[in-house]
Amino acid sequence: MSDMKVIVVGKGGREHAIVRALKESPSVPQVYAWPGSDAIFELAQPTTDVTCIPELLNYIKSEKIHLCVAGEESYLMEGLSDACEATGIPCWGPKRAGAMLEGSKEFAKEFMVRHNIPTGGYASVSNIDDARGAITSYPCVLKYDGLAAGKGVAVCPDQTSAESFLKEVFEDARFGDGNLLIEEYLEGPEVSIFAMVADASYQILCPARDYKRLEDGDGGPNTGGMGAVASPKLLDADLLAQIEKTIVRPTVDGLQKDKNPYRGFLYFGLMLTTAGPKVIEYNCRFGDPECQAVMPLIEGDLAGYLLKAASGVLDPSYFTFQDLWSVCVILASAGYPASSRSGDVIRGLDAVKEARVYHSGTKRGDSGSFETNGGRVLAVVAQGTDRESAVERAFADAANVDFEGALRRSDIGRLHFN
Ligand code: AMP
Ligand code: GLY
Repeated sequence: MSDMKVIVVGKGGREHAIVRALKESPSVPQVYAWPGSDAIFELAQPTTDVTCIPELLNYIKSEKIHLCVAGEESYLMEGLSDACEATGIPCWGPKRAGAMLEGSKEFAKEFMVRHNIPTGGYASVSNIDDARGAITSYPCVLKYDGLAAGKGVAVCPDQTSAESFLKEVFEDARFGDGNLLIEEYLEGPEVSIFAMVADASYQILCPARDYKRLEDGDGGPNTGGMGAVASPKLLDADLLAQIEKTIVRPTVDGLQKDKNPYRGFLYFGLMLTTAGPKVIEYNCRFGDPECQAVMPLIEGDLAGYLLKAASGVLDPSYFTFQDLWSVCVILASAGYPASSRSGDVIRGLDAVKEARVYHSGTKRGDSGSFETNGGRVLAVVAQGTDRESAVERAFADAANVDFEGALRRSDIGRLHFN
């Protein structure tokens, strides 16, 4: 389509990467963003006077925007896609009923049990006594049943850590008043699989690995993700075929059987256990920071693809993934993940040579320079024909960028499972 207009909903590094991939699409759409960020607005047009979803829909109609691409899950849980459908606006992102796969961990577990999709065993409890009764061994995995910005999960090695999380959930009501899941602890390397899903059809995208722990060697606390590696070669073909057969296809079929039609990115967080791949979680959007690693590998017309996909047709002829490795190194602010620091000037962005820099939590300060503005600050992403060259390029450019108290891992892409 000529004169295509698309709006991306979200404000983080994932949305920065999606906006850039859309801008680079041969259909050269005019790209808008909401709520966006200063860095995103260097590529995308800001909306004016939009503070909520109904105002966003009015804006989309008045600007004659053809497609809404949902980046962040919270808007989908608020009903962004349902509202788009009711107003006849094509949306890439599921309706609330589909987003429940991410929005409620209990909903997702019941879905997997119903459709025979491999996952760990679990119990759902609503008070601290039942929780204590349901924990039968350590390590145990405790998950608050609702959106908690990645903070509602605790992998507890012992009773002391479990008790402290139970107190946060039930006594301090840190996340709200939802149930708690006690999950079987699964062991193995983790992998992130992404699919484009349109009703009964799906297309599996380039797989990635997310480095969730704060420190090198997968030490320290869980974070939103300290880096990622992606490549079409990340997993061997047999394993990918097994994942498709036992997890992806049954999930897409299950949504159809449940009469829960789904259009959008679907993320499968998997543990590769000795008993085969098992689902840890679903997300109803692309992964962050995996998206920042995957998007630069796209060769073709993502914008044209998504416009057609939002109408229910997945056409794989629109793009392919380059046969490269892509490595994403996250720089986080001092105190992350327990807290974060804002207002530190970011130095060296101009010195970045080959890599792409996607901004997660930055803003322009009074001097005009970018400053930190959140926990994860930015992602430095580079590609290579093999894993090691991609790692070297990403770290060489990441070394150019700095700010007071910056946290980063030094083994992203180096610590690997194959
Ligand atoms: P989630 O938000 O459900 O993806 O959980 C966050 C992280 O906690 C995952 O990426 C895993 O590293 C870890 N985790 C979650 N569930 C389990 C499980 N059942 N067994 C072991 N680790 C888990
Ligand atoms: N990378 C983990 C997530 O997006 O949830």
